[in-house]
Amino acid sequence: MPRRIILDCDPGHDDAMAILLAHGSPEVELVAITTVAGNQTLDKTSRNAQRVATVAGIRDVPVAAGCDRPLLRELVTAADVHGTSGLDGHQWEDPTVPLAPTHAVDLIVELAMAGDVTLVPVGPLTNLAMALRREPRLADRVQEVVLMGGSFTRGNRTPAAEFNILVDPEAAAIVFEAGWPLTMVGLDLTHQALATPEVVARIRGLGTPLARTVVDLLEFYGARTPAGLAGAPVHDPCAVARVVRPELVECLPAFVAVETHGRWTSGMTVVDFRAERPNAQVATRLDVDGFWDLMVGAIERIGGG
Ligand code: BDR
Ligand code: CA
Repeated sequence: MPRRIILDCDPGHDDAMAILLAHGSPEVELVAITTVAGNQTLDKTSRNAQRVATVAGIRDVPVAAGCDRPLLRELVTAADVHGTSGLDGHQWEDPTVPLAPTHAVDLIVELAMAGDVTLVPVGPLTNLAMALRREPRLADRVQEVVLMGGSFTRGNRTPAAEFNILVDPEAAAIVFEAGWPLTMVGLDLTHQALATPEVVARIRGLGTPLARTVVDLLEFYGARTPAGLAGAPVHDPCAVARVVRPELVECLPAFVAVETHGRWTSGMTVVDFRAERPNAQVATRLDVDGFWDLMVGAIERIGGG
């Protein structure tokens, strides 16, 4: 039985790859794509989700827009990494996949309360926090939450904080405190998933229109690679990979608290691997070759696109 997942995202170059990995993996069934403000404003991240769904031929999966700002704070975007559209680097046709008429938070509650759903949030956690407030029983109904965010060593937007948690720390705190099975795939793990020139060449070698689109995206994104890395880290598909093939992403139990008040550390995930009562599995080590085989295989399986 494929695991049913809702991918909550803010596309975003690596979010686009997460959508492709979910769609191209028979081990999971993508039951909804929901969007949130993060890498760009909600109108842009939603349109980008529609664009990716269109080029990948994702027709039967609702794409629903969610919250347009964090719970309490002003929205911070990442145009420096993802461009003014949020998905710069490719000449996009107008999307033909429509937006669902439902709000993402309502859709998450409806689908997850029906049972057997894994939530995979790869943007700020605003939609999930809102869904939990709206329907607290979600914490008992959801099979697992596997999120991309946080880190146990360092941040990427500030020295202490990773972008997704930094944008909406209050939402992240609600999600980490909910008491549901939760896996945190943070920067420590995702900085092992690097789109090196060899990886990009391998995707180009597939020769399909979809592969060329992915290469366009990786070239734009790769030009913004953080100093010291051998390629751009494709964060978000790592969370999907953990659901598709758990053995690719090694984890350790830990207690994770989210800093919401720190003067210099707001949005930091404080990770205690020695805690007696862990609230999360925290990703530590990636099977890099296995991950890229999975990612390239998914793009190949989707085909023409
Ligand atoms: C996260 O921030 C976003 O820019 C990426 O899409 C990813 O979800 C990495 O810090
Ligand atoms: Ca993202």
